[in-house]
Amino acid sequence: MDFRWQIVLDYADMFLAGGWTTVKVTAISVTVGTLIGLIVALARMTKMTPVRWLATIYTDVIRGTPLLVQIFIVHFGAPKLLGFSLQAMTSGLIALSINSGAYVAEIFRAGIQSIDKGQMEASRSLGMSYAQAMRFVILPQAFRRIIPPLGNEFIAMLKDSSLVSVISLPELAMAGRTVAGATARVWEAWLPVAAIYLVLTLIFTRLVAWYEVKLGVQNHR
Ligand code: ARG
Repeated sequence: MDFRWQIVLDYADMFLAGGWTTVKVTAISVTVGTLIGLIVALARMTKMTPVRWLATIYTDVIRGTPLLVQIFIVHFGAPKLLGFSLQAMTSGLIALSINSGAYVAEIFRAGIQSIDKGQMEASRSLGMSYAQAMRFVILPQAFRRIIPPLGNEFIAMLKDSSLVSVISLPELAMAGRTVAGATARVWEAWLPVAAIYLVLTLIFTRLVAWYEVKLGVQNHR
């Protein structure tokens, strides 16, 4: 097999720009997803039945349908519903954030429920309201435990965000599709893409591991 390095060099800018877009898209989606996830996790634990149901339906529907289908529904469904079309970046970010929110909600719920019930009872008996106890006692402890699974969510999203290439959002996988289409070369297009994803996931796994040690997550299990 002749591997034409020149092609990789010619398209280096496109690969690198795609990789950078992948990082940005992932960071935004997981950040927005974390906000959605926290709200939804709390909603799932409230005594208000309709709110709890809505939150449950959200996580069930999003986690029970493929991200690929959700991307199509947001991108091509929005124009029919709203009367105007969305740019790939907009619908991509919306779909990925909504998706991540459902996964993060479960991470938060597990984290919050892993804190001993006595913590809430003790806080309440000291005169704190439910909200105060949540805010000042439960959530700070839950957050530590949530760091590793949240890191995993980021890394999962880094790879799953490749699905937005189906709506031509110019991230890393789209760079691969573009190069493959322009050059009719398979290895030259996809090996650099795989290599960049690998470098990114390795960097972020190391970062998460380092941050865990810094927070002393292990000591608090
Ligand atoms: N691969 C799964 C799907 O297509 C999950 C995608 C989203 N992953 C995530 N960690 N938010 O539905």
